[in-house]
Amino acid sequence: MKNNMSLLDTLKWRYATKKFDPAKKVDQKLVDQIVEAAWLAPTSSGLQPFKVIEITNQELKEKIVPIAMDQHQVADSSHLLVFAAWDNYTEDRIDTIYQHTTTDREQAPDRYKGYVDRLKKTYLKRAESENFAHTARQAYIAFGFSIAMAAELKVDTTPMEGFDNAALDSLLHLEELGLKSVLMLPLGYRDEANDWLVNLKKVRHPKKDFLIEIK
Ligand SMILES: Cc1cc2nc3c(=O)[nH]c(=O)nc-3n(C[C@H](O)[C@H](O)[C@H](O)COP(=O)(O)O)c2cc1C
Repeated sequence: MKNNMSLLDTLKWRYATKKFDPAKKVDQKLVDQIVEAAWLAPTSSGLQPFKVIEITNQELKEKIVPIAMDQHQVADSSHLLVFAAWDNYTEDRIDTIYQHTTTDREQAPDRYKGYVDRLKKTYLKRAESENFAHTARQAYIAFGFSIAMAAELKVDTTPMEGFDNAALDSLLHLEELGLKSVLMLPLGYRDEANDWLVNLKKVRHPKKDFLIEIK
């Protein structure tokens, strides 16, 4: 379902949905596009250091509710996306994406060697926590892309940071994948009659206080 709203109109339409209609499911083709938008997001040095986990299993969604501050959007969502970032940078992880790069572009395997060596020199000596903070920041950009893509498709979302990351990591066995959860994005359709936020005005700082112009 394409709409002809401008991107700004679309961003005004979206809001952090507080109540989904659990009976309304999002077409898988739309979900695929929302995930693809995250996949297309830019990342620092192109490392794409995160994955998206797509959950439709109702029992699992319900198990996540208590570790997400009892936010029922998780269970009522049609699809739940979890954005999980690499727990650290490793030589292998850095090499893998640059192998894809040279293969996809049909370039010599050592085409980016100097650059890749510099990346490794920078990242591999850093503390794990510093690297995770960096990988997580990349996930946030993709998260924003998915939110905007969903709105473009008239799919509602709740951006979600309010959950126990360690508990979710354990439930989804993310440690075994070298991942840590960063964000969740329940997808669905707003329950207009029961969502307290749906008709409230969007609030932001006044534009004059937001923009600092340097001329
Ligand atoms: C990173 C992030 C985390 C958020 N976490 C939650 C959350 O856990 N639960 C929730 O209901 N809203 C959450 N929000 C929604 C914000 O409260 C909301 O985006 C903000 O108040 C602006 O309102 P709007 O999105 O409706 O325009 C989160 C938003 C972001 C960007």
